[in-house]
Amino acid sequence: MKQTYIQDLKGRIGETVTLKGWLYNKRSSGKLVFLQLRDGTGIVQCVVFRPNSEELFEAANSIGQESSIIITGAVKEDTRSSIGVELDVTGLEVVQNSHDYPITPKEHGTEFLMDNRHLWIRSRKQHAVLKVRHSVIKATRDFFDDNGFTLADTPIFTPAACEGTTTLFEVDYFGDDKAYLTQSGQLYNEATAAAFGKSYAFGPTFRAEKSKTRRHLTEFWMVEPEVAFATYEDMMDLGEGLILAIVERVLNDRQEELKILERDIAKLEAISSPFPRLHYDDAVKMLKEGHAAGELENDFEWGGDFGAPDETYLSNRHGKPVFVHHFPTAIKGFYFEVDKDRPETALGIDLLAPEGYGEIIGGGERAASLEYLESQIEAHGLPRESFEWYLDLRRFGSVPHAGFGMGIERCTAWMAGIEHVRETIPFPRMLYRLKP
Ligand code: 4AD
Ligand code: MG
Repeated sequence: MKQTYIQDLKGRIGETVTLKGWLYNKRSSGKLVFLQLRDGTGIVQCVVFRPNSEELFEAANSIGQESSIIITGAVKEDTRSSIGVELDVTGLEVVQNSHDYPITPKEHGTEFLMDNRHLWIRSRKQHAVLKVRHSVIKATRDFFDDNGFTLADTPIFTPAACEGTTTLFEVDYFGDDKAYLTQSGQLYNEATAAAFGKSYAFGPTFRAEKSKTRRHLTEFWMVEPEVAFATYEDMMDLGEGLILAIVERVLNDRQEELKILERDIAKLEAISSPFPRLHYDDAVKMLKEGHAAGELENDFEWGGDFGAPDETYLSNRHGKPVFVHHFPTAIKGFYFEVDKDRPETALGIDLLAPEGYGEIIGGGERAASLEYLESQIEAHGLPRESFEWYLDLRRFGSVPHAGFGMGIERCTAWMAGIEHVRETIPFPRMLYRLKP
């Protein structure tokens, strides 16, 4: 029995086809049963007409929500349907009859839905968000692959911290050595960039962050390009190109899903080159003005890290993603290159997404000097022996280089226009959630 997918039905009007999937929803009247069948590629209404077959009518009436079924029928044009067709059912095979499916069309609380995440991902809206995620990832991979980057994935078990020791997940590694789940592949990317010129890593990263915000997961996916002989300014060009490629791909490929999500696509269509580039000093000035005008509760002081309201304020002023560069050295990682004329500022860049989605890219230029890095490792209290290999990169052909990391979930939340990053990954891991 050949299977047809719902997404291909439009081209099959007049033919008899076999669909395999699950019962999304059901309605019946005296003579008719309307089965909403989903197969992962779409949802189609399948109509069972009682006078055609009493047996078929009984069978259709007896199946519960999310039963797995195989339906045969004739494809009919239907202008009222969002996919333009419906099916006149001539055969129904029940693979498994499901009863008391926990997620009914009524409203459920988020905790309940998260507990049932393994089932919730079948729902129309969740399905749409994850399709957007798929396109974000596809666009990202294509962008780097088409621009001369080599994919060189980095380890998940690591011997040392990259992004500060306070957010490390420790793992027992056969008793002797301590291992940590990676916070970022960056240090390894610096090695692969010296091998390939342009490299990128794409994989899960971990932060033991006790943050319960709508932007934080403890496990998230990051794409991290790294480029030899590049500056922090080159990274703003690269980041801008990446974001434009993602927006274009999502608008092209996920029209249907953006409609389901009720995304205001005009906001995405407005994303265009160039993205404003703001020196940290100027960002501070803007935040101070915002406070003076009563638009920001806190008065921002030079030297601080932006909070969510600050990021939202800065990006709302532009309606486009905004780069901020030259952060205070003191609040940045040990590896940042500093501005030679103003060593209190580091050549770091962040990209703040509009509509309150906050920082989606973080990166910058890496320190190239062996002596400086040695002193930084000490100043940050990091175990020197774990970084010897990293220091080798400065001993053997050190070059100026730069890179960044983009969080897939934050980017997806922005594209999909949804409130919380927890719905942008199939099975989110958060401070209070390790299940299912
Ligand atoms: O700014 P971050 O911490 O930068 C780094 O890890 C660099 N070492 C990357 C590099 O230069 N190769 O993280 C980069 C991005 C953030 O901008 C954000 O999009 C995402 O990763 N991110 C998170 N996403 C979800 N939950 C969290 N807890 C996140 N922490 C960072
Ligand atoms: Mg950051």
